[in-house]
Amino acid sequence: MSLHAMSAHLRDDDRPLPAWTTRCVNCHTQTASTTAFAQPLTPSYLLDAISRRGGPPSRYNPATLYRALRDGIDPDNIMLRKSMPRYELADTECAALWRFITND
Ligand code: HEC
Repeated sequence: MSLHAMSAHLRDDDRPLPAWTTRCVNCHTQTASTTAFAQPLTPSYLLDAISRRGGPPSRYNPATLYRALRDGIDPDNIMLRKSMPRYELADTECAALWRFITND
């Protein structure tokens, strides 16, 4: 998927990340079988009720995905690790990402 260069930064750090560090696929994969730095971004990983970071089982919807990307907070209100960048995204870009990841 080609998104235009997104503005991103790490928590507690206002400096913009260089564009090459912000592509989802550099840290995530789209297949559950591959070992990667971060969780696989598959439809079932977002849509199934599973425990994330020790919290109770939860699933993503468009609104909680947007919050994770923008504010680094998961559906159980648990803060994501600092290694997941924070993105400044328009609603339309978030919606496109949701459709892309979930095949919705
Ligand atoms: C620099 C590496 C990196 C990049 C680039 C990155 N992520 Fe992440 N992401 C992570 C890490 C590491 C985590 C795990 C955070 C945790 O478990 O606390 C994460 C977690 C997530 C989660 C939460 C998953 C869960 O377990 O609840 C979502 C959703 C997510 N990333 C989506 C994206 C999307 C979409 C992009 C591209 C726009 C992206 N990430 C780009 C490193 C990255």
